[in-house]
Amino acid sequence: MRRPATLHAARELAAVYVLPARVAIFILRARRLARQIGDAWGPDAAARPRELAHLLALARGRSEVVELGTAVGWTAIALALADRRRRVTSVDAVVHEQRARYLELVPGHVHERIDFVEADAALAATSSADGDPAPAGVDLLFIDAGHGREQTIAEFQAWQPRLAAGAVVAFHDYRHPEHDGVAEAIEELGLEGEVAGGMFVWRQPRTCVSG
Ligand SMILES: C[S@@+](CC[C@H](N)C(=O)[O-])C[C@H]1O[C@@H](n2cnc3c(N)ncnc32)[C@H](O)[C@@H]1O
Repeated sequence: MRRPATLHAARELAAVYVLPARVAIFILRARRLARQIGDAWGPDAAARPRELAHLLALARGRSEVVELGTAVGWTAIALALADRRRRVTSVDAVVHEQRARYLELVPGHVHERIDFVEADAALAATSSADGDPAPAGVDLLFIDAGHGREQTIAEFQAWQPRLAAGAVVAFHDYRHPEHDGVAEAIEELGLEGEVAGGMFVWRQPRTCVSG
């Protein structure tokens, strides 16, 4: 009989194949590299393949993406790999040292479209350590940093003015047993949306243009 951990690993592997080919190949290579360099934390911190597939579907046609919470960069890299026109800004308070190793797995045109920002996820909306302005016209915001109630509220409120009309905000780890703060924040903010792939998805209304 298979052990549950083996079954889980088999399901995870199967899930990789729902990803676009370029992204699936990157995730498989990144997992192999993680085993080689003894990085247990990075794969655990990254969005799971099924969640990533939902996120990439939400990202389709969206070219200005911000991710709050980079970890070792797997999701930022996947977002940039999936669409050659997309720019990704990924913010983390900590530069996790293995990130550079995973970046080596993808071509230069992918690196060039990712801006890694070392900052608090909420504060990065108004200032950054390198002095570059935060992106405006963000059409996908992926919130996956602090996960606490107050931090999540602060992140959403800080970034909302930078969203484009019709932008999507995806809160990761919604209803995750270890991250009650995410659902509490969404309730406190009074957001209405849909639940997909372990995320709560809220859409910024499109402004009506009257003529
Ligand atoms: C779950 S991991 C992010 C995983 C990543 N989104 C992915 O899918 O590959 C959470 C990250 O948020 C970062 N983080 C936690 N609190 C933060 C904060 N207040 N500001 C910026 N980054 C924060 C942590 O350093 C950690 O790398």
